[in-house]
Amino acid sequence: MTAIEPPSETIWWNQPLDRVETTWIALALVWSLIMFVMMPVWHVYGKQNLSNEAYRTTPEAFMAKTQAMVDQYTVRTETNQNVPVVRPPPGSDVYLIGRLWQWWPLLEFEKGQTYRLHIASMDWQHGFSLQPVNINTQIVPGYEMVLTVTPDTSGDQTIICNEYCGIGHHTMTGKIYITEGGS
Ligand code: CUA
Repeated sequence: MTAIEPPSETIWWNQPLDRVETTWIALALVWSLIMFVMMPVWHVYGKQNLSNEAYRTTPEAFMAKTQAMVDQYTVRTETNQNVPVVRPPPGSDVYLIGRLWQWWPLLEFEKGQTYRLHIASMDWQHGFSLQPVNINTQIVPGYEMVLTVTPDTSGDQTIICNEYCGIGHHTMTGKIYITEGGS
């Protein structure tokens, strides 16, 4: 008998289940139930979920808030790109713009402090990807994403865009400088 011939018992669905088959079905059922329960458990207790929120916004409103933060808390300018480096106070709301093809401004955070990082797009869809910590979120036009972040290592972190957004996509980078606390 081969697979292309009809089975000898044509009413195959009335045949009794083999014990091995029953065992596999039971195992698959139990495992799928475990996974089902773990989804909400991981959502609450897992560390892979971002604590994010999203709100409606407009490019104009978000730009105004970002500009106000830049005006108040810029500490220096990155000379080669003429981009402000902003050092907002710990615990504050921080605004980051994604646009063709730039994350603006550059940010400076203090290690161990918590910030509410608002991110919005000025034009179309970008992907916020923070390396090397590997935090990723979609930045969809019309919404601001709010990530509550507490950097636990010092050093430079690089923001890249991981959603293809045109000819300059690969140049769309930003920075978050993490400084040691108490400075
Ligand atoms: Cu922005 Cu790719």
